[in-house]
Amino acid sequence: MLKIGKLELKNNMILAPMAGVTDLPFRLLCKAQGAGFAYTEMISAKGVHYKSKNSFELAQTVPEEQPAGVQLFGSEPAIMAEAAKIFAGSGYPLIDINMGCPMRKITGNGEGSALMRDPDLIEKIVDAVVNAVDVPVTVKLRRGFDSGHETAVECALAAERGGASAVTVHGRFREEYYSGHSDWSCVARVKAAVKIPVILSGDVADRDSANAAMLASGADGLMIGRASMGNPWIFRILSGSGGAPDNSERFSVIKEHLDLLREFKGSQTAASEFRKHAIWYLKGLRGSASVRDRICKTEDPAAIAAIINEYFEWLDSPEQQ
Ligand SMILES: Cc1cc2nc3c(=O)[nH]c(=O)nc-3n(C[C@H](O)[C@H](O)[C@H](O)COP(=O)(O)O)c2cc1C
Repeated sequence: MLKIGKLELKNNMILAPMAGVTDLPFRLLCKAQGAGFAYTEMISAKGVHYKSKNSFELAQTVPEEQPAGVQLFGSEPAIMAEAAKIFAGSGYPLIDINMGCPMRKITGNGEGSALMRDPDLIEKIVDAVVNAVDVPVTVKLRRGFDSGHETAVECALAAERGGASAVTVHGRFREEYYSGHSDWSCVARVKAAVKIPVILSGDVADRDSANAAMLASGADGLMIGRASMGNPWIFRILSGSGGAPDNSERFSVIKEHLDLLREFKGSQTAASEFRKHAIWYLKGLRGSASVRDRICKTEDPAAIAAIINEYFEWLDSPEQQ
């Protein structure tokens, strides 16, 4: 059982925060499939400060998905504390701080992974947020900002001094973005240095990699990011509570995903966002390339669902067995 501050998680397999992916519908689906915890995508603390509609939409939640964490990015302690206070007071029992985003438009403002050049500022931000809320505060780091210069240990120690209740480490430098392989030994070095729980992020995609990541790092929990896209079942597989779905279950979850998108985001947004998920759901399935092409040319989500249904019927037909 993973305990983060006063929060006890159902298990230690966690849905990673992913911009454009881990919205409320997807978090609900992953939790229903056994994810022990989930995070919103990164939300700008400055956006919250200036009351940007988009920032609040990204933090949309419902009681059924709780407990979940809201992830904030920013570099000004007072503004981070202000945003954290708003979300901690509106249903989120955990605040996470993004110190890993590699994108130039974020790091150019000294936010995301750029913070990993300044452990003193990390401590100040975490301290300000911790003092503003009465829920656990966690930090998500990379291996370091400048390639070859690993600062994960000193940054994790700074976060711990500031009062963080856990730290997640993605073992890549900023310049690596998502290429190559995450260095799990970097997570082991952080684990050896801090007393708070350490969560590993990067390249956990199945049971073998989950076991290997645990063994290499001694981490207290694992985050699953890209491997969950179109594959929310990964959580029940990793937590040992179920296996891969058959095509009829696969289709019913895809339909449920569309229904949740419509319910929480409205039909217009559902239409524009469903397609990418539909394509992820088909990834790696036999003969799905031509189906993906058809989906790319289709606007209407109901028509996309019908194309997928037809494809699964074809897959399950006796001549394909
Ligand atoms: C599309 C995409 C969006 C991401 N957005 C975020 C984000 O908003 N906040 C964050 O901390 N990490 C973000 N990440 C990084 C992931 O949380 C994770 O650390 C990384 O993908 C490595 O894990 P994986 O190999 O399991 O995908 C993002 C990754 C991807 C692929």
